[in-house]
Amino acid sequence: MKIAVSGKGGVGKTTVSAGLARLFAGKGYHVIAVDADPDASLGMALGFDEKLLAAQRPVVEMKELIKERTGGGGALFCLNPKVDDVLEKYALKIGEIRFLRMGGIKQGGSDCYCSENSFINALVNSLLLDQDDVVIMDMSAGIEHLTRGTAKGVDVIVVVTEPTKVSVKTAQVVLELAGELGIKRSIVVGNKIRSQRDLDFLQSRFPALVPLPMDEALLEGDGTVGSAFAAELEELFAAVVEAGKGGMANGR
Ligand SMILES: Nc1ncnc2c1ncn2[C@@H]1O[C@H](COP(=O)(O)OP(=O)(O)OP(=O)(O)O)[C@@H](O)[C@H]1O
Ligand SMILES: [Mg+2]
Repeated sequence: MKIAVSGKGGVGKTTVSAGLARLFAGKGYHVIAVDADPDASLGMALGFDEKLLAAQRPVVEMKELIKERTGGGGALFCLNPKVDDVLEKYALKIGEIRFLRMGGIKQGGSDCYCSENSFINALVNSLLLDQDDVVIMDMSAGIEHLTRGTAKGVDVIVVVTEPTKVSVKTAQVVLELAGELGIKRSIVVGNKIRSQRDLDFLQSRFPALVPLPMDEALLEGDGTVGSAFAAELEELFAAVVEAGKGGMANGR
């Protein structure tokens, strides 16, 4: 199953991605956590050592490898570069979680066929190995990253929103775009909920959202997701697994 986590800046995409990664891993799934945000922070949220993270090269910077595998740049290059060994060579590992950092992906126009993108898409699309494998992609904020390329093969999009009008607006745009790009299942997470009023506000927009409370400890900490809102994350986990099976999703 491939899961993409999206939403407005600062709403909690990385926190939710890390929480889900840990939960899936704790239940015996093989998790591949992908930081698709150039402004990388998923590694820290997962608790990787900072020195290890600093030494980890983002996949997009592996120019030589990309060149070798895609036959160089230009309009005509191999669209299916061989990538199956990249995971073993470049991913960091904690328990059942393997972690890859994508780095900056070129955007827009004819650039979307650049060799880096071809490589990255081939990589992500080749990551699924068996039934127990789960890919969790922490996307960059907003909608610019949501393209046909990045949406390819995504089974479930988890859209995170805060109880604010602006983040709800972004969530709605993300949901719409995801649908247009062919992502069939979506789950809305209402994050940082402080009160019944917050919950009512979000449920009036997304009746079946999965709520996560504001957790002061998390806010004051270093961003590492430990046992914060474990019970609520279980609910999210169940919703994601259900959506992955093709069951009801609550976003649309
Ligand atoms: N439920 C919560 N309770 C308290 N703090 C939270 C909660 N969820 C996230 N945060 C905090 O909010 C901040 C932003 O969260 P996070 O980095 O996960 O958001 P993001 O959407 O990934 O941001 P960006 O768009 O910058 O990548 C962090 O300091 C995080 O610890
Ligand atoms: Mg983030």
